[in-house]
Amino acid sequence: MSKKYSLTMRFKLSETMTLTKLRVMEQSLFWRAIPVAWVCSDLVLLHGHSRGGGGVIYAGAFENMPVIVKFPPTKAIKEHCQNFFKEIEQEYQQGLMLQQVSGVPRYADKKELLVKTKSNTIIKVPFIIVEQVNGVPFNSLIHRNLDVNTKSTIFIRLVEILGKVHKAGVVHKDINPGNILIEYNSRRDLIKAVWLVDFGASLQQRRFVAQYGSPEQHIPLGYGDVGVHSDMFSLGLVMYFLFEEKLPFHENIAARAIAEEKEFSLDFQLCGNQGIQAILTKMLRKEPMERYSSMDEIYQDVTEVTNQSIRGTCKHVC
Ligand SMILES: Nc1ncnc2c1ncn2[C@@H]1O[C@H](COP(=O)(O)OP(=O)(O)OP(=O)(O)O)[C@@H](O)[C@H]1O
Ligand SMILES: [Mg+2]
Repeated sequence: MSKKYSLTMRFKLSETMTLTKLRVMEQSLFWRAIPVAWVCSDLVLLHGHSRGGGGVIYAGAFENMPVIVKFPPTKAIKEHCQNFFKEIEQEYQQGLMLQQVSGVPRYADKKELLVKTKSNTIIKVPFIIVEQVNGVPFNSLIHRNLDVNTKSTIFIRLVEILGKVHKAGVVHKDINPGNILIEYNSRRDLIKAVWLVDFGASLQQRRFVAQYGSPEQHIPLGYGDVGVHSDMFSLGLVMYFLFEEKLPFHENIAARAIAEEKEFSLDFQLCGNQGIQAILTKMLRKEPMERYSSMDEIYQDVTEVTNQSIRGTCKHVC
């Protein structure tokens, strides 16, 4: 612990925690006025990171390594909502399958906390410990005047990561800017690393950020199964956002409506690179079978287009 903590609270996995103590833990870690560390053997929770759809995230250290720790949402614990517990367990299982994929943080451990509910039942609450990676949220790089080559580097890196994820038998199902972190050196305009996080939706049927969902996720019976093609589509939208700094539809229009009605109207204005435009157009076909067949195919096209544009001889790829 590099920083001085005014207070250290302790908890044990072998001892039952009350809902009140759990609430005090959450509030004290998110309320940073007085730094409080919660210690459980070789795990230290140092502060609240974020509260999202899938859980409550803390930053801390595990065996002296910086980690993030993901608990189910507090409301789900209070109501003993098994679905959220299952999602945490499933994320860990998927994470273990991706230990060798560079660009995916290492899933270090899964543990269980014993919690006494209002009805005096003791339940097991799973939580996971994941290597904490450096990086700024993807969205913070939009409107930063990154050049096309820098954007292409991010594109290539994500295609590589997702290709390896798919080869390991995992479909992410929730590719969106919130689940991508970028290590960026702004002074040298250099992308140092790209990370894909949050595999919580991977084994779930219907949990994804709607704006980045594929037509088959929005309309399950309309376009066939959710699979690698769905990740491809979502990545296409994220990359469209990176290159064009907007989505191909108005944010207030439900993506579902577009999925039901018509092809996206992809009006490229900023990108200026016809090769990239052609690749994104193919990734964003409504029919999964009209998209690329694999991330490898996309990798080939993006690297070819990028090399051509570096040599100044960019041409259409499809
Ligand atoms: N391994 C990690 N290292 C650093 N930051 C991380 C890591 N994993 C997640 N984060 C950060 O925490 C945020 C929330 O994590 P995650 O997406 O896993 O939780 P979630 O509950 O599913 O949230 P949401 O519903 O908002 O997607 C991410 O957007 C990212 O900023
Ligand atoms: Mg997320």
